[in-house]
Amino acid sequence: MRLHEVVPWGRNLTEYQQMFTLSESDLGGRILGCGDGPASFNTEMHQLGHDVISIDPIYEFSAAQIRQRVEATYNSIISQVKAQPDEYIWKTFQSPDELGRSRLASMEQFLADYAQGRQAKRYIAAALPKLPMFNDQQFDLCLCSHFLLLYAQQLNAEFHQAALQTLLRVAAEVRIFPLLTLDNQRSPHLAPMIALATQLGKQADIITVEYEFQRGGNQMLRIHTPNDR
Ligand SMILES: C[S@@+](CC[C@H](N)C(=O)[O-])C[C@H]1O[C@@H](n2cnc3c(N)ncnc32)[C@H](O)[C@@H]1O
Repeated sequence: MRLHEVVPWGRNLTEYQQMFTLSESDLGGRILGCGDGPASFNTEMHQLGHDVISIDPIYEFSAAQIRQRVEATYNSIISQVKAQPDEYIWKTFQSPDELGRSRLASMEQFLADYAQGRQAKRYIAAALPKLPMFNDQQFDLCLCSHFLLLYAQQLNAEFHQAALQTLLRVAAEVRIFPLLTLDNQRSPHLAPMIALATQLGKQADIITVEYEFQRGGNQMLRIHTPNDR
């Protein structure tokens, strides 16, 4: 992959907990974070003694390269948010500048842990739709924040179907947030993904969550084995 194609913004553990309504029992399982980028989720979970592996194609790059890319995209993203403040709910963050500070703080936490985490194979350079390095059902839970469904124009229906098959191969349960595209429309890939999950004998539920930053983005898709909880 080419780093200049990526907008690497990272969220923190509190945001992941709210986006995915993570319970204590969820936190205690073997978790795969798909497309975690420079989020501090893995770092914070590791510090709490939890078990998370993150995959992202940007993990082929050095800490300096990732930092440079985040800093290069910072002004244009914050300017876009400032130009369209009504597209967002200013509850978790009071202003675009506070949002920016939070994203940079997550990146710093991530970068401080990156070398150690890469060595421990908590950060693995890999890209959906295939994850051949993982065994069947290696994880209890897979979390995918701001990647699948969201990049509906860049990633086509075939990509989404193949990615979901992979995630259900490696994890007992999959949660994806948000259900919207970048222009705040319900993702066209949502219904076909639910249909595929059902066809594979899984239960797919749309769950309203506490987190809402992108206006209308307060729902996640949860796919699991029927009657497992
Ligand atoms: C908007 S960021 C979201 C980061 C993090 N999940 C969060 O919510 O804070 C999207 C991430 O998807 C990653 N990505 C791009 N292509 C990917 C692929 N084929 N498989 C997995 N992740 C990918 C990007 O590198 C980037 O870090």
